Amino acid sequence: MHVFVTGGTGHAGPYIISELIAAGHEVTGLARSDAAAAAVSALGAKVRRGSLEDLDGLKAAAADADGVIHVAHRQDLLPTGGIDAVAAAERQIMLAYAEALDGTGKPLVVSGSIGSPGWEGLGRPATEEDPPLSGGDTYRGTLRVRNVVETTVIGLAERGVRSSVVRIPPIVHSTTDNAGFLPLLIGIAKAKGVIGYPADGTNLWPAVHARDLASLFRLALEKGAAGRNWHAIADEGIPLRKIAEAIGNRLNLPAAPIPADVLMLPGYFGFLANLVTLDLPASNAITRRAFGWEPAQPGLLADLDNGHYFPAG
Ligand SMILES: NC(=O)c1ccc[n+]([C@@H]2O[C@H](COP(=O)([O-])OP(=O)(O)OC[C@H]3O[C@@H](n4cnc5c(N)ncnc54)[C@H](OP(=O)(O)O)[C@@H]3O)[C@@H](O)[C@H]2O)c1
Repeated sequence: MHVFVTGGTGHAGPYIISELIAAGHEVTGLARSDAAAAAVSALGAKVRRGSLEDLDGLKAAAADADGVIHVAHRQDLLPTGGIDAVAAAERQIMLAYAEALDGTGKPLVVSGSIGSPGWEGLGRPATEEDPPLSGGDTYRGTLRVRNVVETTVIGLAERGVRSSVVRIPPIVHSTTDNAGFLPLLIGIAKAKGVIGYPADGTNLWPAVHARDLASLFRLALEKGAAGRNWHAIADEGIPLRKIAEAIGNRLNLPAAPIPADVLMLPGYFGFLANLVTLDLPASNAITRRAFGWEPAQPGLLADLDNGHYFPAG
């Protein structure tokens, strides 16, 4: 299959491109700079120069391909327009793809968030069948950015697009994770001399290795049914205290509960404090059944124990 991939220079994208090429697919990656073009090309993909701002270009790229995997995101809009602006731009991108893919049955696989159905009200692990909260709901804003996008993508199934959403947990780990939640936790721990967690630290965080995430994107592209959510979950929920202790062991720093008002301070978790208190276990049972997908990479705690998050010096 000839696959158009966006986000090929981010954290997840290179793993997805490599996975597709290893499986025999031809990949064209979007690149908006010379550096991005060189990186995409080095992965063995063809380069299509353009950006997420160029909707006609995205539409043409989708029309030229047998399928699309979209994992780029307009984070540049966050400082000025907030999450609503990011979501609005992403939605326009999905509608541009739809114009090219309408009635073709071609696959469109887009990244979503494991937090999109909400969490505190569920009282059980989120499943693939839980719909995202509607765009009008206000719910701890941060992770809801994708809801309107996810709803749009799922809706494209009714227009003859084999569209699906791969919901991603807040922690995606790998040896190339430079800007995700783990490096953030590690950086704050080093700065503060303590690795903190809220309350008793029993709130659960799911996680996946970037390589396992990539294999699920490939499977959804190749054989995922239209209009479905898939859960890229390897660890269904690890108590945050255990993650803090694993980091603390490596850094030789104590792991300790931190009061919520301190967590909120700038220089501590600040606006991310909402994220740190999340309790969002998620199930992958439907995804595993649908594809026979089995995460094969180290789990989060094993990957922390591998040491690559803690280079010497
Ligand atoms: N739980 C969650 O909600 C969760 C957790 C993790 C990831 N995710 C989602 O998963 C997806 C992949 O995440 P990631 O961590 O791999 O992303 P990332 O490392 O932040 O990479 C972002 C990618 O988007 C590209 N990009 C940004 N703006 C662009 C533009 N205007 N035109 C063209 N390309 C543009 C970047 O290209 P450049 O190199 O040119 O900047 C880069 O390839 C994202 O959609 C992210 O939101 C969700």
